[in-house]
Amino acid sequence: MIISIINHKGGVGKSCIATNLAHALAARGKKILVIDCDPQCNTSSIFSPAGDIAEPKSLYDLYAHGTSIAKCIYKTSYENIDTVINSPQIAHLEVDLYQDVKKSYQLLRKNMRKYANEHYDVTIIDNNPSLGLYTINSLIASDCAIIPIEAGCRYSLDGFVAALDAISSIASRVNPELRFLKAVINKADGRTSISRASVDHIQRRFASKVFATVIHTDTKIKEAVAQKMTVLRHSPSCTASHKFRSLANEVLGLL
Ligand SMILES: Nc1ncnc2c1ncn2[C@@H]1O[C@H](COP(=O)(O)OP(=O)(O)OP(=O)(O)O)[C@@H](O)[C@H]1O
Ligand SMILES: [Mg+2]
Repeated sequence: MIISIINHKGGVGKSCIATNLAHALAARGKKILVIDCDPQCNTSSIFSPAGDIAEPKSLYDLYAHGTSIAKCIYKTSYENIDTVINSPQIAHLEVDLYQDVKKSYQLLRKNMRKYANEHYDVTIIDNNPSLGLYTINSLIASDCAIIPIEAGCRYSLDGFVAALDAISSIASRVNPELRFLKAVINKADGRTSISRASVDHIQRRFASKVFATVIHTDTKIKEAVAQKMTVLRHSPSCTASHKFRSLANEVLGLL
């Protein structure tokens, strides 16, 4: 099962959810592959290859040189989690890839899909804040998508609607296996009325399309990111860690 985390609005919590959901699923005994498709490489800094590996292969090698996915996969320091890291270089490759869009759009699917589904229970793809070539590649290679929405952020809701459109367009044209799993509300803040009203609005309007688990704004998450680790490793018993475990349970119930 390959899950893309998408929303072209920046900073809504895609990487936070990709990494912590991966950790929570791995803790349930699932074998997880995490692929960082964002040139910012935020997820790569949390799930870096374990050990001292000189010049590890990355997603850049897959896109630029056709390196097989198997050669780009490394173990991490997290049990049950392997990774394909990214390299900032990949940002410059996008212009070249647009020269042959038809071929480019299939690169990840052709190289990754079969291998990932044969070797892992769940593959999680973190994406950049764009619906450009790399995100489209991810959706063409995925079985489903989770869309984070930032509570109280109008643009994030617009990003959610645009992501839904992208999913249905790709599902109808290229990848019939692709489905929208659910949205997850992130950065809720019970102390502000705008955030409470926003959570209420999203839950009413999108009802069963939204995970029941709501992730609140939590400084433990920021502390964990500062220390380049998941919040489940940094503070296993904090509220945010419990929330990610509960999100993982919901996800498993839908797969
Ligand atoms: N629930 C939360 N509580 C506190 N901080 C959070 C929470 N979720 C995310 N953050 C912080 O907000 C920032 C943006 O989160 P994150 O990087 O996960 O978003 P993103 O959607 O991946 O961003 P981008 O679009 O740039 O890839 C980070 O500093 C992250 O640590
Ligand atoms: Mg990110």
